[in-house]
Amino acid sequence: MKLSTLAALLGFTTLAVASPLLPSRTLGARQANDTATAPCAQVSQHIYGDGTTVVQLQVPAKMAWECLNDVPFNASSAKRLIKALRPYMDWQSTLTVLKNPPAEYVDKVQPAVDILGGLDQIDARIDSGSFKNEYDFGWTLYMLIHSAHDGHFAFIPDSVGSIFTFGRPTPLVSVSADGEQLPAVFVYADVLGMQFQNISYTPSPVIEIDGRDVTEFLENWSQFGALQDRDALYNNVFYELAQVSLGTSGAGTGTFTGGGRGRFVYPGDTTTLTFANGSTHIMENYARPVIPFRSINTGEDLAARWFSWGTAGDDFVQSETQETKNTAPSAAVDITGAAAPGFPTPVMAGPMNLINGFYINAAGYEDVAVLQVPNFVASSSAELDFQRLTRQFIPQALADGKTKLIIDLQANGGGTVLQGYDMFKQLFPNIEPYGANRFRAHEAMDLVGQSFSSFASQFPRVRTYNSTISFAQSSFFDYHQDMKLDETPFTSWTDKIGPDQVNGDLYTKLTRWNLSDVYVPYVSGGINVTGYASLANVTGAPKFPPENIVIVTDGYCASTCTIFSELMKQQAGVKTIAMGGRSNKNPIQAIGGVKGVNNFQLGFVQQNAQYAVRFMPSLNSSILRRDYYSNIVFSRSLASGVNTRDGLRQNDTSGVALQFIYEEADCRLYYTPEMTVDITSLWKAAADVQWGTSSKCVATSSYGKRDANKVTTKLSLPAAGVRVAQADAVKQMQAFEDSFKLETECKMASDGFMEP
Ligand SMILES: *[C@@H]1O[C@H](CO)[C@@H](O)[C@H](O)[C@H]1NC(C)=O
Ligand SMILES: *[C@@H]1O[C@H](CO)[C@@H](O)[C@H](O)[C@H]1NC(C)=O
Ligand SMILES: *[C@@H]1O[C@H](CO)[C@@H](O)[C@H](O)[C@H]1NC(C)=O
Ligand SMILES: *[C@@H]1O[C@H](CO)[C@@H](O)[C@H](O)[C@H]1NC(C)=O
Ligand SMILES: *[C@@H]1O[C@H](CO)[C@@H](O)[C@H](O)[C@H]1NC(C)=O
Ligand SMILES: *[C@@H]1O[C@H](CO)[C@@H](O)[C@H](O)[C@H]1NC(C)=O
Ligand SMILES: *[C@@H]1O[C@H](CO)[C@@H](O)[C@H](O)[C@H]1NC(C)=O
Ligand SMILES: *[C@@H]1O[C@H](CO)[C@@H](O)[C@H](O)[C@H]1NC(C)=O
Ligand SMILES: *[C@@H]1O[C@H](CO)[C@@H](O)[C@H](O)[C@H]1NC(C)=O
Ligand SMILES: *[C@@H]1O[C@H](CO)[C@@H](O)[C@H](O)[C@H]1NC(C)=O
Ligand SMILES: *[C@@H]1O[C@H](CO)[C@@H](O)[C@H](O)[C@H]1NC(C)=O
Repeated sequence: MKLSTLAALLGFTTLAVASPLLPSRTLGARQANDTATAPCAQVSQHIYGDGTTVVQLQVPAKMAWECLNDVPFNASSAKRLIKALRPYMDWQSTLTVLKNPPAEYVDKVQPAVDILGGLDQIDARIDSGSFKNEYDFGWTLYMLIHSAHDGHFAFIPDSVGSIFTFGRPTPLVSVSADGEQLPAVFVYADVLGMQFQNISYTPSPVIEIDGRDVTEFLENWSQFGALQDRDALYNNVFYELAQVSLGTSGAGTGTFTGGGRGRFVYPGDTTTLTFANGSTHIMENYARPVIPFRSINTGEDLAARWFSWGTAGDDFVQSETQETKNTAPSAAVDITGAAAPGFPTPVMAGPMNLINGFYINAAGYEDVAVLQVPNFVASSSAELDFQRLTRQFIPQALADGKTKLIIDLQANGGGTVLQGYDMFKQLFPNIEPYGANRFRAHEAMDLVGQSFSSFASQFPRVRTYNSTISFAQSSFFDYHQDMKLDETPFTSWTDKIGPDQVNGDLYTKLTRWNLSDVYVPYVSGGINVTGYASLANVTGAPKFPPENIVIVTDGYCASTCTIFSELMKQQAGVKTIAMGGRSNKNPIQAIGGVKGVNNFQLGFVQQNAQYAVRFMPSLNSSILRRDYYSNIVFSRSLASGVNTRDGLRQNDTSGVALQFIYEEADCRLYYTPEMTVDITSLWKAAADVQWGTSSKCVATSSYGKRDANKVTTKLSLPAAGVRVAQADAVKQMQAFEDSFKLETECKMASDGFMEP
């Protein structure tokens, strides 16, 4: 639900100083070896020099790493944290399936992970004293939850996310010279320089990183990303125009450079690239302090100042339940939409670069329009403007003679669930969206449902501005809020929770959104869904038939993006094109991010539990009172969340959540060098395969090894590079180079969003 979290999370410092484009030797110059100086003191000195003003916002990665490892382990706090965290795991809809997923998922996507067993092991390691320091514990806990590869499921302990983030200064890309040879890895600046005809040497591919085969190294590194699909994870290692267009809310310049969840991983002191031409490039990796380091001299100082260990009594201290704010849309919205590097000027610009309408300005593509949607509104008051862009762009494109539509979903980590439904209904007003979903059924959620349903039922279901009543009535836990598969109402909470036993776990009955419900604008941040309520008058045939639409992804399609694409593929029959992927000729998936259809931050879980006790005082003696009143889960983490709802496919009787269903894209295309600097060339390639005469999808074959003979070995100079006037070229290159400084910020404030 689109409600703010409890404010127990540490924020990131907002602005970043440039990471140098090329490694700078001065970065390490202050790293004087003073054996009398502890690592955290070195960090402090590095940042402030001898005074108190910041002279340097980055520190060498190794210095930060040593400082982190100098924080002693607090076993009693760790015990308390694990104990407090455990009840929240019940809310993860896939908890049981993760332990024993379908064979095809294990084979092609990710291995099984036993979350509760992993917590037991961590607990045992605390007892046996085997954690070296606080960071060792934090990282182990982080990786346990991360290994579920569910973008909604995260626990980022203080030591991992609240003190430093890490990065490498040199972004990479994986490109095929001609779209047919297997892709190879290049330094992005080389490809950029080549496309702008700005370099005098011939770029050579990277063949090794730190002495290991480049693809092996990067496939391994890619697993630190948030997605589940391995080809999508591989794409996410690299510089990508759509991610960059999202600014700090995207995955920056890729996980290799510390974008997305790459920022939580220590990349080593330096990273060495070895090129096919025999030369090498050593980059110095950096860390960015997230908190001030003034007068911090030791790991103990750092702990005393910035770790909230929790006090002995706090497991049972009443924390104030916060009133939720009514999320009325605000009027102040930036609708200018600055052009991002590599993108042309949009024909119609939506809010904050979250959605833009383009035409392809080239002969042969006069009839193609592009709706570029890298997000479904994750954290802002841009909801109405976002919806309006599609509403205005479609008729405009038709009026301008466009008969074909590319929907570019690259980099789309989701956002407001009902925006996904809305966009589908704008395109296909004649189709009733299915969108079945379910919660995992367990005692705590049952109690919350009983309480909310009984409280909410006291009041007429009309839109009220009493925030407590709205909070209850707009919740899944009021059984009136949604409907059964056959579009009839549930008759009670007992009717809704069931539970159904499916494949070894218990779930609620399948539910569907009631898109006519009076609370739709409340949970959507301000919109009604096209085709319902005040927009019920929008009906009729689709403006573009399904064969005249094609979806393009880079696999980074998660959360609400998967809701939208599921409706588009399954119900409307629209085809998908997946870009990039590992350097092989296998088919790849188009949808590689979490297919869960709703996430709760753990603070929101706690808030629901506490509201339930408030609504039904008898629950003060229940597990809700016992398990959801400690704040250590929040004081000891940067961010945390669970996936609460599974999405289910229409007419699929297997009971398997979409998250575990593997499905290949209709077409796979490699990125070419040109596509990494000019998005239009990618759109043209998509239009060519969908509507052109010759099919150019990457040949598919059964799973196997890549054909090493046909790997890209060099890039040929483009005929004219990016054809722009010289002054323009300098300006454009500058925009790209500026983008190398991008870092990922942590924003987890939305209802169907995978935080990068
Ligand atoms: C400083 O030098 C000492 C002795 O040579 C060495 O043991 C230590 O690891 C060095 N520390 C750093 C931070 O380089
Ligand atoms: C360790 O955590 C406990 C709370 O569990 C706290 O009382 C104690 O002060 C912490 N120890 C140190 C050395 O900070
Ligand atoms: C590359 O572009 C920069 C400006 O972005 C310019 O200063 C430089 O001279 C160019 N180099 C070459 C070899 O064209
Ligand atoms: C070898 O390739 C690298 C990476 O493209 C480049 O920086 C370097 O200048 C090349 N060296 C030679 C001698 O061409
Ligand atoms: C990459 O490989 C190393 C060494 O085999 C391993 O320790 C590390 O966990 C791997 N990384 C990931 C993300 O799996
Ligand atoms: C909202 O309604 C509840 C239940 O009737 C009531 O207790 C509360 O005082 C109301 N809040 C406001 C701000 O009116
Ligand atoms: C959906 O909401 C509308 C508007 O409140 C209501 O009239 C309708 O009965 C609801 N449908 C179901 C199945 O509950
Ligand atoms: C949504 O539709 C309802 C019912 O027609 C209407 O009362 C409400 O004003 C609409 N809200 C918005 C934000 O359009
Ligand atoms: C539907 O009704 C709204 C007012 O509620 C109006 O603004 C809009 O133009 C109408 N759309 C159509 C397609 O009739
Ligand atoms: C599911 O089955 C119904 C009824 O046979 C059919 O109308 C619908 O198109 C099917 N949907 C999908 C996604 O196959
Ligand atoms: C609720 O339970 C807690 C802990 O068991 C207790 O301290 C508190 O007094 C109880 N509150 C009420 C209103 O009964």
